[in-house]
Amino acid sequence: MAILKIARMGHPVLLGRAAEVTGPTAPEIRRLVRDMEETLLDAGGIGLAAPQVYQALRLFLWRDGAEMRVLINPEITPLGEARAVAWEGCLSIPGLRGAVERPARVAWRGLDLDATPIHGEAEGLAARVLQHEYDHLEGVFYLMRMNDLTQLGFTEELARLAEESP
Ligand code: NI
Repeated sequence: MAILKIARMGHPVLLGRAAEVTGPTAPEIRRLVRDMEETLLDAGGIGLAAPQVYQALRLFLWRDGAEMRVLINPEITPLGEARAVAWEGCLSIPGLRGAVERPARVAWRGLDLDATPIHGEAEGLAARVLQHEYDHLEGVFYLMRMNDLTQLGFTEELARLAEESP
């Protein structure tokens, strides 16, 4: 097990389209996922995509409540017309938060570590994390989804503002 270095915005690995995982059960994929779990726990995040640890592969982890889940070769489909705005951060853009509008509900499907097809529906935070992590597989940052950059700031400044205005 190892804590991996996290690529930050500006590194080209974060800008390309990641490749399909051809052997989800391969030992190197299991090792990568274990290391990504450790890295995500250490960083205190709620999602981590393989390109963020310099592996241009279509897989990501996300925390579904207390459970750490992995999704390989994912597909995400919006459900319905409802959209929601919420604050997002990214381990590849440390220190910043931005308000991002996204579909409120999604269906997701992909493979688990045994190459078994899995699928489900998500809303709220889970829907947001799934879409954010999927974007990393397409070379997209949450910043690129923002249409009002006044809703972008440093977490520390935003926290101070929140304290001052009850
Ligand atoms: Ni991110």
